[in-house]
Amino acid sequence: MVYKICRIIIHIGVYRYPTGKERHMADLAKTIMDIRDLDISFKTPKGRIHAIRGVNLTLRKGETLAIVGESGSGKSVTMKAIMGILPHNAVINGGTIDFSYDEDGKEQTVDLLKKDRRWLEKEINGRRIGMIFQDPMTSLNPTMKIGNQLAAAILSHEKISRLEANSRAVTLLEEVGITSPKGRMNQYPHQLSGGMRQRVVIAIALSCNPEVLICDEPTTALDVTVQEKILNLIRMIQIQRGLSVVFITHNMGVVANVADYVNVMYAGKVVESGTIMDIFYDPRHPYTWGLLSAIPDVNASGKELYSIPGTPPDLRKEIVGDAFAPRNRYAMQIDYKKEPPLFQISNSHFAATWLLDERAPKVERPKELEHRIEKLREEAKKYVLTEE
Ligand SMILES: Nc1ncnc2c1ncn2[C@@H]1O[C@H](COP(=O)(O)OP(=O)(O)OP(=O)(O)O)[C@@H](O)[C@H]1O
Ligand SMILES: [Mg+2]
Repeated sequence: MVYKICRIIIHIGVYRYPTGKERHMADLAKTIMDIRDLDISFKTPKGRIHAIRGVNLTLRKGETLAIVGESGSGKSVTMKAIMGILPHNAVINGGTIDFSYDEDGKEQTVDLLKKDRRWLEKEINGRRIGMIFQDPMTSLNPTMKIGNQLAAAILSHEKISRLEANSRAVTLLEEVGITSPKGRMNQYPHQLSGGMRQRVVIAIALSCNPEVLICDEPTTALDVTVQEKILNLIRMIQIQRGLSVVFITHNMGVVANVADYVNVMYAGKVVESGTIMDIFYDPRHPYTWGLLSAIPDVNASGKELYSIPGTPPDLRKEIVGDAFAPRNRYAMQIDYKKEPPLFQISNSHFAATWLLDERAPKVERPKELEHRIEKLREEAKKYVLTEE
């Protein structure tokens, strides 16, 4: 645990502290995917579930965008909409997913929601966008040798010989840190550990040189030390290949280790978004405060881990006002009546909470959280000074 928290501090402090130049570069980075007003519901025998209630997300080239939120907040459904793999009972009520890519030297922008499954399968899935899921076994065929699975993935998109595909497969296994890759080609998934299997899944996702990698809770099923290694691997591959990554997690500690930008989702909406510095050092939404407070604190040994009281709303019922209001100890009358707009805090930072309205009373962040943020800032300053 001590190690993990140190990593969070070190990561934000040393590696992730954006210098002025980096921020400028980030501003210039091209938008590769732009999701606007995405609205999705599900038809069920017990009624309509309004799962995605107007999601806006921007992914820029070469950056890692984290999406964080509790179970059921709509993280996976949003990603499935991108890939065109929504369950059959899903209804897209509105929105656009503009994806920009290079086709024979010409830039194309398509609204993925307007394309059919077959086109997405041929042009996008596993070709321009790769996806890694939580459980590697859902992506691997237990009855097929991993070498064959990798070669099949390569051959499904490229016209090369089987021999070439095999040699590419070995190189890919090497790239994702699998030792003796030639020997591993002949093994079945069950002969590998969980971490190794996830590495194979990453290799398959990378097999056709995607521009975007979507990682949906890729480390949740793994133990802590393996988690750490897979996160480092994803980060390394992202930098080496210049990939744009969407990283989904319910764990703020993981976010600190991977993200450039963070989107906090609650009940089918993005309620706060900003750079990693905005979200960790200057969080504005009480839900984000709760998520940050829930990161284990090494110095508070013996204390029970904080968890946000209450449960998310039932998405079968119409939500009036701010969906977070019943769990928000700072909620005002308006929170139960009217949905808050997205308030702009800076060029990069936005939050949807009535606390940011100029008429709202001034509310301080919880003292304990403030103290933790202060500690993170102090550590970061120390590291940045020694770095520069
Ligand atoms: N096929 C479906 N039919 C009905 N409801 C669904 C279906 N798929 C998802 N949902 C609902 O949509 C909402 C969002 O689900 P989603 O899987 O995106 O959550 P999530 O944020 O990924 O959660 P988790 O952290 O548990 O993976 C949930 O309320 C879920 O029950
Ligand atoms: Mg999910």
